[in-house]
Amino acid sequence: WAERLQRLNTVASTQEEAKLLAEKGAPEGTAVMAEEQTGGRGTRGRKWHSPKGKGIWMSVVLRPAIPLQSTPQLTLLAGVAVCSAIRKMTGVEAGIKWPNDLLARGRKLCGILLESSFGPGGLQYCIAGIGISANLSEEDYPIELREIATSLLIEGGMPVDRGELAKEVLRELKYHYGLYMDQGLEPIAHLWEEQSVTLGRRIGLKTPQGWLEGTAIGLGEDGGLLLREENGTVTSVCTGEIVLI
Ligand code: BTN
Repeated sequence: WAERLQRLNTVASTQEEAKLLAEKGAPEGTAVMAEEQTGGRGTRGRKWHSPKGKGIWMSVVLRPAIPLQSTPQLTLLAGVAVCSAIRKMTGVEAGIKWPNDLLARGRKLCGILLESSFGPGGLQYCIAGIGISANLSEEDYPIELREIATSLLIEGGMPVDRGELAKEVLRELKYHYGLYMDQGLEPIAHLWEEQSVTLGRRIGLKTPQGWLEGTAIGLGEDGGLLLREENGTVTSVCTGEIVLI
């Protein structure tokens, strides 16, 4: 997949570029990376700050033969892959916050946005969007993000070669994707648990039924986060944004 990386200059969002390629039949592992995004997107309709030449703003085409309800599992494997690549190439101690934010010292380093397209035959393709804040310094962040975001430069003290790191991410992604397709979620869940900063922590989460609080004890079979409440009840949480307490 690293051989198929296309580098673009300024785009609205690499998600749209990858979608266009996927619609034209681009094979699995096709990846686009931009120097700058003017309309970078985050989860929950948020914007993703993507300044020029500072980050890895990249989207990858996947064509998994899996049922619709399993697609959240792809975000777990993408988180594991990116975390492994960052640890290997930079030594920065990144950890995964459920489901797939990467943090260092409690601050966000990387986000992943998975978007799926369905047709009459089911899942057509998925686009895994990966945003790694590589060479941003504090001044590159707007004030409101400075306390909650970080970068590989801030954490590791030196700039990273974005092209090389992007290729390593693609190699890790290909490997973990293959592992998932061959053996299912179990080996991925195991790696995820090893790299997680969520397990063992008390967390809170807003659900349609109200505020839920408990200790994160592991991943369920479907990739949901298992939360044990004070009264012993274990609930599997599949979507939502958790708060580490
Ligand atoms: C998040 O909110 O945590 C997910 C952020 C995902 C950002 C990446 S950058 C490359 C790709 N293109 C986008 O517009 N978003 C994703």
